[in-house]
Amino acid sequence: MCGIVGYVGDRNVTDVLVQGLKNLEYRGYDSAGIAVRNDKNIDVVKSVGKVIDLEKKLESFDVNYYMGIAHTRWATHGEVNEVNCHPHSMNNVVLVHNGIIENYRELKKELELIGYSFLTNTDSEIVAALIDSYKGSKYDALVYAQMKMKGSYALVIMFDDEADTLYAIRKDSPLIVGIGENENFVASDISVILPYTKKYVDIEEGEVVKITKSDVFVYSENGLVDKKIKTALCSIEDAQKGGYEHFMLKEMNEEKDLCVKLYNKFIEDGNYSDDIPDISNYNNVDIVACGSAFYAATVGKYLIDTYVCDRSVRVNVDVASEYRYKKHFYGDRSLVIVVSQSGETADTLACLRMANSLNVDTLAIVNVPSSTIAKEAKLVMPMLAGPEIAVATTKGYFSQVLELSLIAQKLGYIKGTISDIEKKSLIKTFENLKSYLIPLFEIDYSTIAGKLWFKEHIYFIGRGIDYIVGLEASLKLKEISYIHSDVYQAGELKHGPIALIDNDTPVISIITNDEIKEKSLSNAIEAQSRGASLYLLASENVDIDNLKIDEIIRVPRISEFYQPLLNIIPFQFIAYEVAKLKG
Ligand code: M6R
Repeated sequence: MCGIVGYVGDRNVTDVLVQGLKNLEYRGYDSAGIAVRNDKNIDVVKSVGKVIDLEKKLESFDVNYYMGIAHTRWATHGEVNEVNCHPHSMNNVVLVHNGIIENYRELKKELELIGYSFLTNTDSEIVAALIDSYKGSKYDALVYAQMKMKGSYALVIMFDDEADTLYAIRKDSPLIVGIGENENFVASDISVILPYTKKYVDIEEGEVVKITKSDVFVYSENGLVDKKIKTALCSIEDAQKGGYEHFMLKEMNEEKDLCVKLYNKFIEDGNYSDDIPDISNYNNVDIVACGSAFYAATVGKYLIDTYVCDRSVRVNVDVASEYRYKKHFYGDRSLVIVVSQSGETADTLACLRMANSLNVDTLAIVNVPSSTIAKEAKLVMPMLAGPEIAVATTKGYFSQVLELSLIAQKLGYIKGTISDIEKKSLIKTFENLKSYLIPLFEIDYSTIAGKLWFKEHIYFIGRGIDYIVGLEASLKLKEISYIHSDVYQAGELKHGPIALIDNDTPVISIITNDEIKEKSLSNAIEAQSRGASLYLLASENVDIDNLKIDEIIRVPRISEFYQPLLNIIPFQFIAYEVAKLKG
């Protein structure tokens, strides 16, 4: 989750770059660096750790710079150290890179054969050499690099022998150019440019951008492109924390109003509106996504399998990084649904493109309206969650689950497996969803977090949809607290994983399904008998009479079409509180 900032103009260049990196800190990183240019040379400064550490190093650089590039790195190739940190240089080229060059080993061999040697273990240094190796114009060198590289990249480049220009190219990794008055910016994220300008242009794949203080030129293979200048609709406040301690906390709190917004959009006169895609004509639906979006997809599959089970539609879910390399047997009633908050996730995008190229119908459930996935899908269901800045998705997952639930409900209603009365009751519950959610936001989760934050392993167990929610709960916890966590179908515990449980291992059991609550409870007791400390997230109807439980969180019992939305809230808060306690 690297970040890129580039600037050319009259402001204090290091201040703009450092501030830009600070605005990108929310994305997570392990090191940071900048390359800044003055009349004589390019200075490169790097630091492992926080941007503030880099800033301290820059204090001694009391020089008038007029242009520069900066980067926060999240290591993918090569360990976290200053050598591997960006910017990377090779002779005439200095660059920063987001993304992954999949064929970098092959390119490295070719470059070594013509005399290049490398200091770092990164794929990005190879890119610097690749561009440097081309003997011709800068534009041609970048077109050549685009042709040779496989994978994803957002690249901002300075050439030693061209004193006033930044160059940029991208593929499957976001990059925009911010347009100012006698100054210009390039950034991987809009939050970098918002303090200075709201005007920006998107860079498309295959384009080469030249940025000077006074001009931005975008070229494609057909020559100069007349780019449409867009205006960012979100304010800096939208992209910032709005009084909350962290973006994640702000975004979790937005879930309460998000469900109202989605109700207003998707329910019209007590009916499912036309904005909910009707997928009843398809008999083969693949839902593809990564990470939390995949877990949301899994909820969608469960709901269709369970409540629209008239055997007329087969739903398959897969993680995008697997799906894109599998063989598929699409028929003329196949649909591929991709789910993505950012709309830029490379594997998900690749699946969308594969399906599009095979003329399969595609639907994207996507949050960022200007994203590549939103642009390329045949049909789009907008998530309407607003900017999601925290890397740990919360409201994004919430919206994805709710939208998939609506698609399932509409499908069931059209197919007759959901009756008129059931539909009315489902829509009523949707209308009241916010009131079910509010009490869950009022619980003090710090006590339970206080019992968990120092643990090394935390396990979740559940059955059916409770297990699926456990997948997301466990991901959220490990992603931001760095505590190892895993989730098991409760009935699977005794088939091996129970060996991992000993004295005081926290086991969090999720029990909200009436039909299997007794079985789930007995699995929780199994874990307890191995010494586990038992935590329960249970709906009101689960009777825990004589059980000794460390902590219990009660959630209202509502239709399974909405239950996962309630169940996930406490786990988002617990993950957040645990991460805070761990600093
Ligand atoms: O932007 P996307 O929804 O395509 O992202 C997919 C995953 O990378 C994402 O959901 C990830 O798992 C979350 N950051 C987890 O909180």
